[in-house]
Amino acid sequence: AITPFILCGGAGTRLWPLSDALRPKPFLSLPSGRTMLAETALRLEGETRSDLRFSSLTAIGSARHGALLRAHLPAADLVLEPVARDSAPAVALAALLAEPDALVLILPADHHIARPERFLDAIASGAEAAADGRIVVFGITPDHPATGYGYIRAREAGAVRKVEAFVEKPDLATARDYLASGEYFWNAGIFLFRADVMLGELEREAPSVLSAAREALAGATTDTAIDARIVARAAFAAAPAISIDYAVMEKTALASLVPADMGWSDVGDYAALSALSDADKDGNAVHGPAVMQDVTGSYIRSEGPVIAVKGVEGLAIAATRDAVIVTRLDEAAGIKPLVSAAQTIT
Ligand code: GDD
Ligand code: MG
Repeated sequence: AITPFILCGGAGTRLWPLSDALRPKPFLSLPSGRTMLAETALRLEGETRSDLRFSSLTAIGSARHGALLRAHLPAADLVLEPVARDSAPAVALAALLAEPDALVLILPADHHIARPERFLDAIASGAEAAADGRIVVFGITPDHPATGYGYIRAREAGAVRKVEAFVEKPDLATARDYLASGEYFWNAGIFLFRADVMLGELEREAPSVLSAAREALAGATTDTAIDARIVARAAFAAAPAISIDYAVMEKTALASLVPADMGWSDVGDYAALSALSDADKDGNAVHGPAVMQDVTGSYIRSEGPVIAVKGVEGLAIAATRDAVIVTRLDEAAGIKPLVSAAQTIT
């Protein structure tokens, strides 16, 4: 069986104010009506194919979202971090929690997969390589020079390919070169490996991450109200804040790639969120109370206030009770500085 872990302790500002520190991206609902977190768990549930078996699900997230996580994942084991240390320490926790020879599946909780059966196919394709000691990543064919993803060079043909290079978040010029070369995939952020293999790579490449995670787990306490384990704060805080991509994936010689054409979207900004919604005849996607006149190609979403819009094109407008963002959709990827400024006011 494969032991699945959902990582959901990250922040996220490009979908502010719908998502913020108190309610980050995994808790944002998609057009399906479900959150990305629920969709992630659901992808594994009721799985009856003969080539895949999953054991019970563990979510590793932030202690500040403990109650929210429990509400979204009533049946999962919860392991909570009192301080955020990025994904490498969280992956270390997962590898320590699983049986040493178990296959661990790391699932981010911040993306949408339109063809979940292809996702399961990809996991099944990678399982044998993972059992043989490979760290399996899943490759998405890039369609623009995004700078927010890992790029993986894997030129072989076939369902499982040797990884020749892994470059996390290259700059724009490099991303353009990679895209033009046709030799690179985007990293989907999903990892499949044997627990002992990842522990070995962490020991070699990031020993301080591993030792902090080990100590934090040994000192974990239980929050009985939500039935969750909370790792020891001081020990966990001693881990460097580093993602698994930088800590291990850029360095390891053990990576293999499975190409996965599964309708993957990182839902990284309002343009991506808008692309997931069905548009009406004017190209608008509207969620919540809104009235419009002469509006086209826009994404409008309110969690409270009534939005009235006239004579605009290609905008994202999103409102919560506390804040509103208005941006051109084609500039939605660049709102981070603006959001930071807004957050100093709210
Ligand atoms: N438990 C825990 N603790 N989870 C975390 C933490 C943390 O401190 N930080 C991040 N995560 C979770 C996030 O919630 C998300 O589900 C996952 O780990 C990935 O973290 P992100 O912060 O969203 O990473 P990214 O989007 O910048 O980059 C990663 O994902 C890309 C694809 O979406 C990398 O793996 C890239 O290589 C990849 O292309
Ligand atoms: Mg992400």
